[in-house]
Amino acid sequence: MPEITWDLFNRQVEACTLCSLCQNIHHKVPGQGDPQSPLMLIGEGPGQDEDLQGLAFVGAAGQLLTKMLAAIRLPRDRVYICNIVKCRPPYNRIPTPEEAEACKIHLRMQTYLVRPKVILLLGATAAKGVLGPDIRITRDRGKWVERKGVWILPTYHPSALLRDETKKPQSWEDMQSLRDKLVELGCYEDLLGPSGRA
Ligand code: URA
Repeated sequence: MPEITWDLFNRQVEACTLCSLCQNIHHKVPGQGDPQSPLMLIGEGPGQDEDLQGLAFVGAAGQLLTKMLAAIRLPRDRVYICNIVKCRPPYNRIPTPEEAEACKIHLRMQTYLVRPKVILLLGATAAKGVLGPDIRITRDRGKWVERKGVWILPTYHPSALLRDETKKPQSWEDMQSLRDKLVELGCYEDLLGPSGRA
């Protein structure tokens, strides 16, 4: 067994042809941020901006995500951000369960390497991909799940908030709950960075 490293992860994603999504993309989007952050964010899959830049959450949804993090005083570069699938699905369609399953090898390796204490799942695809197909985002958002010592919170995807502003109060509740969990686990202050500390 080769040692699992970020170098191996990056090479594995770059070479991946486990599903057909890689056939029509500009760039793979493995994820980015602090590779040792206690907080990992998982979205659905790259959109057009992400595909062009090779970076997760850099379009309109990404800008809102940056604001959501800032609302609980978290600088975006202190967290690790990635997606269920690493290649853009055509026309931004939802990845199929088969595509999500094929890509899980990468997400598992990433989670192993980051070793987060807390995972925020953005939207139904991320919630189903990590917690199982029976999850309903409208019913299960805001409910913490503990798996192997990692605390996991499903919440709305920022794109859903851009489409429907009435979801914003619930999203804000979830972000406050996220902040409270990070405080409880003793990792909030570290995430703020030197300038953010009281
Ligand atoms: N939506 C996602 O789920 N992920 C991105 O990286 C961008 C938009």
